[in-house]
Amino acid sequence: MTILVLNGPNLSRLGKREPEVYGRQTLDDINRKLVENFPRFSFEFFQTEYEGALLEKLFQSEDQGGYLGVVLNAGALTHYSIALRDAISAVTIPVVEVHLSNIYAREEFRRRSVISEVCVGVISGFGANSYHLGVRALMGIVSLEPE
Ligand code: DQA
Repeated sequence: MTILVLNGPNLSRLGKREPEVYGRQTLDDINRKLVENFPRFSFEFFQTEYEGALLEKLFQSEDQGGYLGVVLNAGALTHYSIALRDAISAVTIPVVEVHLSNIYAREEFRRRSVISEVCVGVISGFGANSYHLGVRALMGIVSLEPE
């Protein structure tokens, strides 16, 4: 079973982008550590700057089948994309919403997520570890042990 790790706009810039908020690890670093930490799983990684591409990837994964779930950092789309919210509602694959920063401890506009209600849960504020916790959350949903 494969876990899809989906990243939206600006997450390609991790490592360089506001390191005091998002840390110094690049997205490649984060992805590599996921593979190392969860050797039993196969991962697919996808990052895009485009809203539509994120939707298409979700639908492709749903149609293709074989996915355990999705760990999704939608970036700023989290706060306003009703299209993304509808897409998550439209698929049966469980989606865990993750954020590196604690979106509830930041600017007012970040405190609202339009996708949380249609995700199985939210992990926010643990830096790169949010992705690891996201994978563990998915494992909990399907009752799998890490090793
Ligand atoms: C983010 C938080 C969002 O508000 C922001 O737009 C991002 C990253 C995070 O991982 O903390 O791009 O999703």
